[in-house]
Formats: sequence, structure tokens, C-alpha cells
Amino acid sequence: MLRTHTCGELTAEHVGKEATVCGWVNTRRDHGGLIFLDVRDRYGLTQVVFHPETDETVFALAESVRPEWVLQLSGIVSKRLKGTENLRMPTGEIELVVSKLEVLSRAKTPPFEIDSQKPVNEELRLQYRYLDLRRAQMQRNITLRSRVFQIIRKYFTEQNCLEIDTPCLIKGTPEGAREYIVPSRVYPGTFFVLPQSPQQLKQLCMVGGLDRYFQIARCFRDEDLRGDRQPEFLQLDFEMSFCEQADVQKIVQGSIEQIIAQCSSKKLKWGKVGSFTWQFVTDTYGSDKPDLRYDLPIVDVSEIAAGCGFKVFEEALKLKNGVVRALRVPGGAVLARSEIDTWTELAKELKARGLAYILFKEDGPQSPLLKFFKDGFLGQLIQRTGAKTGDALFFGADTVKIVCAALGRIRSESAKRFTLIDEKTHALFWVTDFPMFEENDDGSLTFSHHPFTSPNVDEWKHRKEEPLKVHSVCYDLVLDGYELGSGSIRIHDPVLQSQVFDMLGISPEDQQKRFGHMLNAFEYGAPPHGGFAYGIDRVVMILAGEPNIREVTPFPKDQKAKDLMLGAPAPVPAEQLKELQLSLDQE
Ligand code: AMO
Ligand code: AMP
Repeated sequence: MLRTHTCGELTAEHVGKEATVCGWVNTRRDHGGLIFLDVRDRYGLTQVVFHPETDETVFALAESVRPEWVLQLSGIVSKRLKGTENLRMPTGEIELVVSKLEVLSRAKTPPFEIDSQKPVNEELRLQYRYLDLRRAQMQRNITLRSRVFQIIRKYFTEQNCLEIDTPCLIKGTPEGAREYIVPSRVYPGTFFVLPQSPQQLKQLCMVGGLDRYFQIARCFRDEDLRGDRQPEFLQLDFEMSFCEQADVQKIVQGSIEQIIAQCSSKKLKWGKVGSFTWQFVTDTYGSDKPDLRYDLPIVDVSEIAAGCGFKVFEEALKLKNGVVRALRVPGGAVLARSEIDTWTELAKELKARGLAYILFKEDGPQSPLLKFFKDGFLGQLIQRTGAKTGDALFFGADTVKIVCAALGRIRSESAKRFTLIDEKTHALFWVTDFPMFEENDDGSLTFSHHPFTSPNVDEWKHRKEEPLKVHSVCYDLVLDGYELGSGSIRIHDPVLQSQVFDMLGISPEDQQKRFGHMLNAFEYGAPPHGGFAYGIDRVVMILAGEPNIREVTPFPKDQKAKDLMLGAPAPVPAEQLKELQLSLDQE
């Protein structure tokens, strides 16, 4: 090794000993003829000092040193002068008095300061990710990520799972996103598809008798990016045989509990993992992944709104699945008109036609709606919602889907505006009993999880008459308002699998073409099985308290799905295209 110690290692214990450290120049100060450097590596900072009398050439070289140069420094560990110690740092009592200096690498002036709390333009950070990774916050995040990997591997191995790798060059797995495709040179005109998840392969591992599987799996999805999405990301992917929903849940939640216990100072709200049905959370919190670190329930007032006198409410109730619902925001009466206007725009982005409100001011309720209300309606609303002086009520009147989305958004805005989030806890809970299908805008059906999810078999009998009333044996895990993961008990009966494809409008020929391998596999003795997957990047993001997963991904794509450091995606040479027999249809 080029060093005897790391930059985080030398303490008062080592005073008087010889040591060699290597690292990057973090800062440099010249003081009364002495040169001080803080030298940095992954483990910490060590102060080194050059005395002009020690060695003239060493001192002269030290004078030329600049930030981010990489040095090897040897000398004697000494106690710092009284009053110059820094007790906040483990190495703060000592300094290395340098007798030998080797410049291992010189550095250009970096495009941003490494040792700075000042915000740096993200584009620049991504372009120079290798410099960004030197920053303390990134080093903390990447270290946390590595710890999470270790906990996962240990935990699932202890659960008797085999770690099994599955290929990335595969055939499509529908998970609801667009796919990345890879052209085949050997079979021109054909393509591999990168996995959106190893869903089918892990099920085939179960058919293969491997019984319990896990993988830290790379997944690829070409979808609209948001803070909690990347085009490629990591899943903890898990599958087990001969199990029911509760068995999968127990194992999965155990892993998250361990990660939280070992990597977070926060406690679980309720002292345990909660569980709610999909119907309950969407009705009550307007979302299938609500942040339950605060309560703020939505209340249905449809019953009392019928005939209330206010046209907007009355008309909404005439719609198919029309409802009127209210959100009480404690303290909301102080909201300014301009803030309510902004929130109204947010609701409108989610297709709401407006955001009716009442402010319960000291001198009485205030709202443009009151003049329309029939006698007694305001009193009923107050009774139903518990509104008090100082509160605000917000209303959604439309189809249940639109109202949930709009009031769900206002609920989370309210929590931010009035700092209602309990930052000392994690709200971790299951959402169960999802609908099997969702309706597309054109009225056709789509799966709400993926097409290999088992329906509730009793309800399945009535699928033809009421497909939207069929539930699936599917469960999501939600942490602090983020969907951590999803899973389900799978279909293992080829007839049932085919019926599901039928309901999704996939013709028998297409079923064979796209999923023949699954249907065939199920003909050879498939065990009942189920599984789950959670987004590892999301777990680390939440634990690190970061606002997006780019901050915890070593080499992320930017918000436009580009790798700014590598300059990818990029054109390829014409010969490569020719070899693949591909031609570009571009101007
Ligand atoms: P699902 O599609 O819900 O389920 O994905 C599981 C979890 O993966 C994470 N995730 C993402 N993370 C970052 N960027 C993305 N673009 C992204 N997309 C998804 C989320 C999500 O909850 N095969 C099923 C699992 C199963 O049934 O076993 C699946 O992939 O945290
Ligand atoms: P209007 O009658 O359209 O002027 O609306 C009166 C009030 O009701 C305004 O505050 C609107 O924002 C609100 N509003 C209108 N339509 C809806 C709706 N569908 N749901 C909730 N509030 C609405």
C-alpha cells in the first residue's frame, strides 16, 4: 500500500509515530511561513503541515500544490498547538509534520468547489460526476447504498433464498412502461428487450424448483422521468413457492424493518408496519401511496350535498361515479387568496374543474359559495367535517377518480404549507386488495399490477359482468408517501393465465407469441408462488433524506434521460448500423 493510514485514522494515540497518508488536497492555508493542507480521502480529513526548516525542496514543492492534487505524505504525527485543535473531527487533535511529499497526480481547477456547502448546478455535477462523488454528501449516500445492499444480501440469504442472476437480453415483460430494445446482429430485424423487471424469469425459477429466489436486479423502463424514477434502476426482487400473501409480506417487511433499524434514526409510526385496503387509502387520503406521517383525512359529503343548492356539487353527483368530498385543513383559514389560486391550478392540472373552499375566519365563515347554500347545509358540513374557527375546508366535486387525485394533492400541499409532517417517524404500511383491472380512457381494460397477478378467485367468476369489481391478490408497500414496491400471488394455472390475457384483449395467437413460454411452463407442474419487488434507489433516497434518486445513484441519467458524463445516448458509426441491417429514417 502507498499509505500506512487513511485520512480518517490518525488520532492523539498516534502522536510521535511515523505515518504515510494519501489523498486529495481539500484546502490549503499559508500561515506565518508554514503551509497547512487538509488532505481528504473517503475516511476523513487529516491536517498536514510543512515547516520551511524541515526540507527546502519539500517546502518549495508544497508551495506549488493546488486543490484536488493527489499527494502521498510522510512524516511524524504531532499534537496540534493548544487552541488550534478541532474537537469536532476525529483527527482534530493531531497534524502530520511532513518530511516527504510525493505528488501522485496534478489537477486542473475543478469546475466547482468540492469542499463547499454552496449549491452546485446539477448539470455540472452530472457532467463531472467523478468529482461530484468526492463531495461528503455523495460519499455518505453511496456508503449508505452499499450498506443497504449488504443488509439485503445477508437478510434474504438467511431466509434461505438463492441469489440468482437473470439475463438482461430477453423478451418483453409487460410492467406498464415502454421498453428499451437491443438489435440482434446475428438475426437482423429482430430485437432483444431489456427487462422492465425479471418478473417472468423469477416465476420460471419457481417452476424450476428453486423455491426461494432473490436478486438485486437492474431494470430498464423508458418512461416519463420524475424525481423518484430513473430509466434504469435497481430492484430487490424476491419470489417464493408454496406461499400465501401473508408469507411474502412477512419476509419482505422484515427486510425493510432491518434496513430502517440499521440505517435510520427514525422510529416506525404505530410502532409497526401498518396495513390498509386500497379502497380505504384512496377514499380517505386520495392516493394509493399516501404519506401517513400526517393524518388529514378526506371526508365524503355526497349524501348531504344532494340538493344543497350549489349547482357545482349537485351536477357532480349526477355523473357516473360522481362524488362530493371535503378536506379539512387545520389552521387553513390564514391562506391568502393567491395561495388558494395556486392550489386551484394544481387541482386543475389533475382534471378538477375548480377547488371550492370555505375559510372559517374569526368573524365567521368566508367563501364565495355560501350564498348558494340552502339553509342548514353549512351546519351539516361543519358537523360532518368537524371544521372549527381557524380551519379551511376544500371541496372536490366530480368523478371519484378526479376528486381523489385533486384532494390528495391538496392534502400533501397542506401538510407542507402547515408543516404537519412528523419528521421523527417513518410511516411504513401495506396497501392490499387492489382492483385487478383499470379502465383505459377508451373503455378497454388494462392490468393494474401486471398480467401474471392472481385474481381473487371467488370474484373471478363474475369477471364478465363486473370486471372492475374483481380484486387481485396484490400488495404494495408504501414508505413516507412513496411506493416502495409491489408484489402479488401469481397465477400458476395456464387456463386462468389465458383467461386473464383474454380479459386484457390479447388474442390466443398473441398470447402464444408473446407469452407462450409462460403458458407452456405452467403445463409442466408449476408450484403456487408469489413475490415482491422494491425499488432500492427509493429506499436509499428516503433514508438519506434526499429529494430525488439521482442523489443516491452513482451514475444517474439526468431528467431528460441522458448521461451527461458519458454523453449517452449517442449516434453509432454507420458501419455498426449496417452490420445490424438498420437504417435511420431521419432528415
Ligand atoms: P413495480 O413495477 O411496481 O413491480 O416495480 C417495483 C418497484 O420498483 C421501483 N421502480 C422504480 N424505481 C426507480 N425508477 C423507476 N423508473 C422505477 N420503476 C419502478 C418502485 C416500484 O415500487 N415485477 C413487479 C414486482 C413483482 O410483482 O414482484 C414489479 O416490477 O419502487
Ligand atoms: P364557478 O361556479 O365555476 O365559478 O365555481 C365556484 C367555485 O367552485 C370556485 O371556487 C371553483 O373553484 C369551485 N369549483 C368549480 N367546479 C368545481 C368542482 N368540480 N369541484 C370543486 N370545486 C369546484
